[in-house]
Amino acid sequence: MKMEIDKKNARLEFPAFPVVLVTVEENIIAIGLVHIFSFTPLKIGIGMHPQRHSYGLLEKIKDFGVNIPTKELVEKVDLCGTLSGRDVDKFKESGLTKMKPKKIKSVLIKECPVNLECDKVQKITFSGSHDWFVGEVVAAHRDENYDREKALSYWDKEYRVMGERVLKR
Ligand SMILES: Cc1cc2nc3c(=O)[nH]c(=O)nc-3n(C[C@H](O)[C@H](O)[C@H](O)COP(=O)(O)O)c2cc1C
Repeated sequence: MKMEIDKKNARLEFPAFPVVLVTVEENIIAIGLVHIFSFTPLKIGIGMHPQRHSYGLLEKIKDFGVNIPTKELVEKVDLCGTLSGRDVDKFKESGLTKMKPKKIKSVLIKECPVNLECDKVQKITFSGSHDWFVGEVVAAHRDENYDREKALSYWDKEYRVMGERVLKR
């Protein structure tokens, strides 16, 4: 039997989403609203609330970095998703290390095993809480020993890593 649930909280019925650390200039923000908008060319969309300090920065700057963290970095990810770059330097607070990008201006994060350099190509606004910034990946870096199964996901205040494989095609 199905029961009717509160439509306002229906988003919480989704399983966890990947979480990334987005770098805009020298600020870091944790982003759970991240998706691939195009395979070729590779375009990544990030959903951002206009109140975020990073939102204002992204309005001005032409690029951003998408850094994929693994579970060892969970506390640093949480810090970057709690503190604001308006008040603190999140690189200093977290102890994360700046990594020089090849093609963009926004710095990357050395401790994250995957770093995607994105040129901002589009902003999509809805009459809703978050706007989407879409970036085309212009350079990409990966640690040789990166294990995708250790990449972090987040939803409803819980951090997770990938679960059981139920089928391989
Ligand atoms: C795991 C996690 C995921 C988050 N995902 C998003 C998101 O997708 N979009 C968003 O606007 N804020 C998201 N937030 C909230 C921002 O990361 C948070 O408000 C941050 O402090 C904003 O930093 P800033 O003011 O320096 O930009 C998330 C927070 C956490 C902890």
